[in-house]
Amino acid sequence: MITVFGSINMDLVLPVPSIPRPGETVLCPSYETKPGGKGANQAVAAARAGAEVAMVGAVGRDGYGAQLRANLVEAGVEAEGVRETEHPTAIATIAVDPSAENAICVAGGANGAVDQAWVAEEALSAGNLLVLQMEVPAPQNWALIERAKAAGGRVMLSLAPAAPIPKTALDGLDFFLVNRIEAAMTADSLGWSLDKPLAIARRLADEAGVTCVVTLGGDGALAIEPDGTAWRQPVLTIDPVDTTGAGDTFAGVLAAGLDSGKALADALRRAAVAAGLACTALGAQESMPDKAEIDAALDRVDAAQLVA
Ligand code: RIB
Repeated sequence: MITVFGSINMDLVLPVPSIPRPGETVLCPSYETKPGGKGANQAVAAARAGAEVAMVGAVGRDGYGAQLRANLVEAGVEAEGVRETEHPTAIATIAVDPSAENAICVAGGANGAVDQAWVAEEALSAGNLLVLQMEVPAPQNWALIERAKAAGGRVMLSLAPAAPIPKTALDGLDFFLVNRIEAAMTADSLGWSLDKPLAIARRLADEAGVTCVVTLGGDGALAIEPDGTAWRQPVLTIDPVDTTGAGDTFAGVLAAGLDSGKALADALRRAAVAAGLACTALGAQESMPDKAEIDAALDRVDAAQLVA
């Protein structure tokens, strides 16, 4: 069973002709509201990929909150752990340009009120996988990681958006997901003079005993296991419409694969396929594939290769 502790946002998606520069105003004809939030996106991706998933998070007592809860339930996510708070439901404004590039601003609202105490002890025990990101207050994540480590469950953290992570929290992880920028920031915050993703991932895997996965956009992903085994996963070639949520899809489908007992290399390949498919429509969750769609597209991506 997977428990996702994290953010639930309503995305206001604006198809702009170009991403505004500081001080610039750009016009577009309209916008669409679409379910988002890194936590909810990962929960939906994992559920569509076939996992049993529960979401713990917060919304406001407003229309967006009700829509987002219904969206989770419709996607097959157990949403009993989604609480209503007096704060407004979080929103994200997402400007997407014709090349599928985006710029995102998040107003955290209810996400700031989540409490790790809402996660039941049973969800943290051996055989369970806890999935976290960084759109909720970091101290709640650190405390929950400590509880999960003591209870025997496995923990996956996507360090998005990037923030310094205490070494004690890092040591409590089983899977640590970062992109290039987040990897470099983590190395920096730990005082390491390293800039190459592979070198950073190797040191993280070695010193924290964690499987470190670095997503590299069009260059695929790297994964280093605690024993030093290194994998390179190629991407699915697609014509992207909107890359919003691709990283969340990767994380959710990777979690689903690992939770079902798949080997890391197999779970990485499924995650890469799903992340590519997720870029083919506007919106974070719109084109997230289900298990059958991942299976059908699997032979379009090479398997992860061992790196010497
Ligand atoms: O990772 C994509 C997500 O980031 C969007 O859905 C948006 O809500 C922001 O949280």
